[in-house]
Order: sequence, then C-alpha cells, then structure tokens
Amino acid sequence: MKLLEALWSIILSTFTASGSVHSRIIVLNTISQFPVPIVFLWRKSIGSSVWRSRKETLSCMITLPTSRKYCAKASKSFHGNQTDELALLAFKSQITYDPLQIFNTWNSTLHFCKWHGVTCGRKHQRVVELNLESHDLVGSLSPHISNLSFLHTINLQNNSFHGEIPPDVGLLFRLRHFEMGNNSFTGEIPSNLSCCCNLITINIGYNKLSGMVPKEIGSLQKLKTLLLLENNLTGRIPDSLGNLSSLELLRLSFNNLDGRIPIV
Ligand SMILES: *[C@@H]1O[C@H](CO)[C@@H](O)[C@H](O)[C@H]1NC(C)=O
Ligand SMILES: *[C@@H]1O[C@H](CO)[C@@H](O)[C@H](O)[C@H]1NC(C)=O
Ligand SMILES: *[C@@H]1O[C@H](CO)[C@@H](O)[C@H](O)[C@H]1NC(C)=O
Ligand SMILES: *[C@@H]1O[C@H](CO)[C@@H](O)[C@H](O)[C@H]1NC(C)=O
Ligand SMILES: *[C@@H]1O[C@H](CO)[C@@H](O)[C@H](O)[C@H]1NC(C)=O
Ligand SMILES: *[C@@H]1O[C@H](CO)[C@@H](O)[C@H](O)[C@H]1NC(C)=O
Ligand SMILES: *[C@@H]1O[C@H](CO)[C@@H](O)[C@H](O)[C@H]1NC(C)=O
Ligand SMILES: *[C@@H]1O[C@H](CO)[C@@H](O)[C@H](O)[C@H]1NC(C)=O
Repeated sequence: MKLLEALWSIILSTFTASGSVHSRIIVLNTISQFPVPIVFLWRKSIGSSVWRSRKETLSCMITLPTSRKYCAKASKSFHGNQTDELALLAFKSQITYDPLQIFNTWNSTLHFCKWHGVTCGRKHQRVVELNLESHDLVGSLSPHISNLSFLHTINLQNNSFHGEIPPDVGLLFRLRHFEMGNNSFTGEIPSNLSCCCNLITINIGYNKLSGMVPKEIGSLQKLKTLLLLENNLTGRIPDSLGNLSSLELLRLSFNNLDGRIPIV
C-alpha cells in the first residue's frame, strides 16, 4: 500500500503541476487485500472556475441546501478572545497523557497565542490553527473546540485520541483542514462535519470509526482530500460522493464498504 500511495502522489503532483489539466485521482479499495486503483482524469471548463469563485462569496448555507437541516444550530453569538482561551483549556483538560509535557506551556503566564501548537490570526488574537501532530498524546477530543470559531486547521494526526469525534465540530464553519488520521477514534463519522462547508481536507484514516459514510459529506464543494482508509466503516459508498466536484484524492481502503463506485 505504501508503494502504491507514493506512486499516486507522484502522479497527482505531475498533473496538478501541469495547469491546464484538472486531475482527479481516486484510489478505491473495497476488498481489503487487493488494492484497486482507479484513475479519472479530465479537463475542466474555464467557466467552472468563474462559477466557483462566485460561489465562494456566498455563504455555505445558501449554496448547500442539504446542510441547512444539520447546520441550523450553528451559533451566531459573538465569542470574544476569552472564549478561545477557555476552549483551549477545555481541550487540555481532556488530555490524559502528555509525555513531551507540552501542556506545561499552556498556562496563564503565557498568552494562549504563544502556547505550543497554537497559532493565532495576525489581526485578531483568535486561534486559527491547532497543530499537535505526533506528540504521543492520549485523550479525547473536547466538544468545546467548537468554540474556536476562527479555526481553519486542526491537526491532531498520529496521536492516541480515543472516543468519538464530537458532532460539535460542525460549528467550525471556517474549518479547512481536519487532520485526525492515525488515532483511535471510535463511533461514527459525524454527519455534521458536512456543515464545515469550507473543508478542503478530511483525514480520518487509521482510526476505529464504524457505521456508514455520511451521505452529507457529498455536499462539500471544496473538498480535495478525503481519507477514510483503515477504519471499520460499513455499508454502501454514498452516491453523493460523486458530487464532490473538487475531489482529487479519495482513499477508502481497508474498510467493509460495499456497493458500487459512485459515478463522478
Ligand atoms: C482580549 O481583547 C481585549 C480587547 O480587544 C484585550 O485588551 C485583551 O488583552 C485580550 N485578551 C487576551 C487574553 O487576548
Ligand atoms: C462554549 O460556548 C458556549 C456558548 O457560548 C458556552 O456555553 C460554553 O461554556 C463554552 N465553552 C467553553 C469551554 O468556553
Ligand atoms: C508556564 O509556562 C511557562 C512558559 O512556557 C513555563 O516557563 C512555566 O514553568 C509554566 N508554569 C507552570 C506552573 O507550569
Ligand atoms: C507518528 O508518531 C510516532 C511517535 O509517536 C513517530 O515515531 C512516527 O514517526 C510518527 N509517524 C508519522 C508518519 O509522522
Ligand atoms: C501511527 O501511530 C503509531 C504510534 O502512535 C506509530 O507507531 C505509527 O508509525 C503511526 N502510523 C502512521 C501511518 O503514521
Ligand atoms: C449535529 O447533527 C445532528 C443531526 O444529525 C443534530 O441533532 C445536532 O444538533 C447537530 N449538532 C451540531 C453541534 O451541529
Ligand atoms: C467492526 O464493526 C463490527 C460491527 O459493525 C464489529 O462487530 C467488529 O468487531 C468491528 N471490528 C473492529 C476491528 O473494530
Ligand atoms: C448531487 O447534486 C445535485 C445538484 O446539486 C443534486 O440534485 C443531487 O441530488 C446530488 N446527488 C446526490 C447523490 O446527492
């Protein structure tokens, strides 16, 4: 699989570098032992990029009718900079093992924007990125991270987070990169993730997630990478994935999925 992955990333970079050709690479493997790579390549009309930039100026709620049902509860109340600190402390409180002792720096003697792994926006002192990849952390993911309303990247890859992915992440409407690969998350993929209409990356591969792939994921118009491999997902691959018009990389291998591959 490693070799295959390397091969596809080379192909992917070749085509994305060549400008005029829009590449779509889908690596699907529903039968565990035999990787079945399928490559789709096609040109995109110039018109579609104009349409996309127009769409970006509209709110997700308007452009994505399917998200209205799930995302109606997104809070509109203003959260001040204190909220970010409280949310980070709530996140810290759910960490049970921190061998590198990074959370020692997460104390009030230091502004939270300087805490290890935290990046704030330049204009406002609001958290835009939380990156604690490969820190040997054990714990669960606090639902209070949903109060980090300016967050665009959360990367907790390659740790030992367990428990469920809280559906509250659906409130993070500015989220672009959701990197949770190689942890021990259980439960289902929250369909609310589809409320984060600016998502470009969803990496929740190498976990213990079960249940079905939520069909709502298919409404994420900007999604380029969807990694669900190495979980315990079951059921049909939803047809709605065929609607992911920005998708470049999809990996579903090592699950128990069935049905047909969506027509794109
Ligand atoms: C929060 O914002 C206020 C005013 O914008 C500022 O005075 C205060 O220092 C900020 N607090 C933190 C913790 O960033
Ligand atoms: C997150 O925001 C909600 C609503 O404003 C509030 O009730 C909750 O206490 C906040 N959580 C934290 C950890 O600040
Ligand atoms: C708080 O963080 C500072 C800066 O990283 C560190 O020097 C200090 O030891 C920490 N305090 C406690 C009580 O852990
Ligand atoms: C994952 O984290 C471990 C330490 O826990 C590290 O040894 C390994 O290199 C990391 N893997 C990747 C792919 O970053
Ligand atoms: C996953 O994490 C474990 C340790 O937590 C590490 O040994 C392993 O290399 C990681 N795998 C990947 C694919 O990053
Ligand atoms: C998540 O979606 C469920 C419906 O699937 C809904 O009941 C819940 O209120 C949503 N939560 C958030 C935080 O958006
Ligand atoms: C996968 O899920 C099924 C139920 O859907 C369960 O019986 C099985 O133990 C799970 N396997 C793993 C490896 O978690
Ligand atoms: C794909 O999108 C079209 C247009 O938005 C919609 O009519 C259709 O139901 C979607 N297909 C699926 C399978 O979600």
